[in-house]
Amino acid sequence: MSIWKRKPLHLLLSEAAESEKGLKRTLTAWSLIALGIGAIIGAGLFVRTATAAAQNAGPSVTIGFIVAAIGCALAGLCYAELSSSIPISGSAYTYTYATMGEFLAWIIGWDLILEYAVGAATVGIAWSEYLNNLLVSVLHTDPIPYALSHSPFQTSALGEHGIINLPALFIVGVISLLLIKGTQESAFVNGLIVIVKVAIVILIIVLGWNFINPVNHAEYIPAASTYVDDSGVSHNFGGIMGILGAAGTVFFAFIGFDAVSTAAQETKNPKRDMPIGILGSLAVCTVLYILFAHVLTGIATIEDFRTGGKEASVAFAINKYMIGYGWLGNFVTIAILAGFSSVILVMLLGQSRVFYSMGKDGLLPSFFSHLHPKYKTPYKANLVILVIVGLFAAFIPGDIVGDMTSIGTLFAFILVCISVIILRKREPNMVREFKTPFVPLVPILGVAVCLAMIYGLGWLNWARLIGWMVLGVLFYFAYGKRHSVLNNGK
Ligand code: ALA
Repeated sequence: MSIWKRKPLHLLLSEAAESEKGLKRTLTAWSLIALGIGAIIGAGLFVRTATAAAQNAGPSVTIGFIVAAIGCALAGLCYAELSSSIPISGSAYTYTYATMGEFLAWIIGWDLILEYAVGAATVGIAWSEYLNNLLVSVLHTDPIPYALSHSPFQTSALGEHGIINLPALFIVGVISLLLIKGTQESAFVNGLIVIVKVAIVILIIVLGWNFINPVNHAEYIPAASTYVDDSGVSHNFGGIMGILGAAGTVFFAFIGFDAVSTAAQETKNPKRDMPIGILGSLAVCTVLYILFAHVLTGIATIEDFRTGGKEASVAFAINKYMIGYGWLGNFVTIAILAGFSSVILVMLLGQSRVFYSMGKDGLLPSFFSHLHPKYKTPYKANLVILVIVGLFAAFIPGDIVGDMTSIGTLFAFILVCISVIILRKREPNMVREFKTPFVPLVPILGVAVCLAMIYGLGWLNWARLIGWMVLGVLFYFAYGKRHSVLNNGK
């Protein structure tokens, strides 16, 4: 029994051939770009941008977006090679099982909980902020009491304490149940949500441009200092470290573009369309994000984002400064609530696929791969995921889960980049429908940029990542290693 045992490629490919049955090659480069944008634009832009500006970089959060986009583009090219040669569900977990062996595959599977489950919790918490905004600013009713819409680790400016975030719990619960029923977003609904999301971003950029107050941009890259937030946590503010910290925080806004890479086997011409789909959706989002962040930090002040505009920041900035545009604030709030729901759906779906694969491999109990007799969905996995995501959404503040998602995903990206180099050496003749250009340069640069962002996220987040991983290692030796199908010849 070896913890480094690799899943043989032929086994993976025959599983892939099995899973490929019934899938048609219908996607074009354009549909891939739409798929990417649908999965990408969400809480990262509408919540984390203001957080990064307030805590790390001020207006230079725009430069943070550029750094994050470069890291994503490099890692994205690596994702595309792996997914076009090992086109099977489970994403980075599966690639690692074939390249670096069981133990690291487990590590990445465990780590992906941060990307998908904790990520879904982050978007759920952001949804809760905008729900309260809907109640107060759009419907002119009372908000859900602070205690019932915040984690126990949060205190308001008025000294109220949070107890549980019920709206966040509600939305992840509803979407988990939808997933169990097997309700998939139709291409039509996805297309509609993509159009609405892009439309509000463009509207804010165009209409907000006239409301940019040059004073807010006077010090575009603030001088390096330290900012201590309400909870007493200090952040590097300004300078290079501020930009790297902001890059790590807004990196969240790009998560989901890897969803494009998992559609390799449904793409008409993956060699040409995959890089266009991945880089195209990244490019569109990057341009929109930079302009959006420029406008947002120009309309409102950093102080706003540290105080009254800390929550539902975009609606706050519009309502406070864009006089006469109340309708835009209302439209944004409603559209965001719908847009966030679709991001949560994609993330929960991704998580259930990873757990499903791990259950099949024996690294998690086999019930994770049981399908519902009627709906044919991995409903037990979905219920466990609901408990995990629900706990994070209900009891942990959005900033903490957001940064945990970023750091966990960055770590996964690093392993994906390394996998490409290893697999080129070990399996030089494997059929690759898409090849990452300039190997090993692109993967090495991908690792370097992701490491820089991890560095920028600061020691508290490193400690959280390490703590999470230690827990994972304990689980592996207590359960996975003993039950692994591959290792026990079952
Ligand atoms: N990129 C997605 C978002 O920002 C996860 O919500």
